[in-house]
Amino acid sequence: MDSAIIRDRDFAASALEGLQADPKWLDSKWLYDAEGSAIFEQITQLPEYYPTRTETRILKDEISALSQVLDPGTVLVELGSGASVKTRILLDAASQLGAYVPVDISADFLEETAKGLREAYPGTPIRPVVGDFTQDIRLPAALDAEPKTAFFPGSTIGNLPHDTAAAMLDRLRHWPGIKALILGLDLVKDTTTLVEAYDDAAGVTANFNLNLLRRMNREIGADFDLSAFHHEARWNAELSRIEMHLVSDKDQTVTVAGTPIAFAAGESIHTENSRKYTREAFAAIADRGGWEIADFLTDAGQLFAVAVLKPKQD
Ligand code: TRP
Repeated sequence: MDSAIIRDRDFAASALEGLQADPKWLDSKWLYDAEGSAIFEQITQLPEYYPTRTETRILKDEISALSQVLDPGTVLVELGSGASVKTRILLDAASQLGAYVPVDISADFLEETAKGLREAYPGTPIRPVVGDFTQDIRLPAALDAEPKTAFFPGSTIGNLPHDTAAAMLDRLRHWPGIKALILGLDLVKDTTTLVEAYDDAAGVTANFNLNLLRRMNREIGADFDLSAFHHEARWNAELSRIEMHLVSDKDQTVTVAGTPIAFAAGESIHTENSRKYTREAFAAIADRGGWEIADFLTDAGQLFAVAVLKPKQD
């Protein structure tokens, strides 16, 4: 069967599961279709969205510390590599890497990125793997014996449900040859800075979130009126996370894949979480996954951190 049909069916089932729950939710993985991915690129350039540029600055400023876990022969494995933009900072500084293995769920994107990297880094074998890092990933068996450093930037760990994040850290810890994990995480800070990063003045993040409704209209025959919903970013202090919501402006009934879904005025669909960490809270999560913090690199403003983790010795 056509993979687009299977995907539409998955999308419809997943959307209905969330929209029939109380409170309503949608799985954030549906945010990233071609249009959503393009809007997300715009988010990373926004003045309010500090994570991308701050993490990039830390990687550049602390490259000599990071080079310690990129010895000659090391295989660098990136989880959710996308366009591998930040990785180039590591690839530029490392000499004689055993290989670079970008892992991503989008096969098309991965091949295109690999092509560009092969041209830019002719001395480094580029071995892309199509896979979902929240599940088990199969690395090329030929690399089993090689020392490995994993790279997981972007504070993507903060978008994962707690159990998924913990399971992932634990799985990585058991990879053959794993020596280190370089992981980006966003830090707790004042609420205004946090909320504005997820609700920018130009409305780009609102457009990103509302694209979920447009996508349901396009792909699974929904009839959302986009002018009757608005985007909200809320700080949940208790769970230390920014929550993204789509809020209904009035009582209304929407049809999704043939099923009527009733909304009360002010009722929301919860679409994403972005967890923010203190060093202590992160250390506790890492510890449970079998890792210890070897280095905790931050910017001068303490906005963001790049942690270098090593397997706990037991
Ligand atoms: N990893 C990004 C983050 O948590 C994802 C993200 C940024 C995002 N802005 C968003 C997700 C807006 C949903 C809505 O910072």
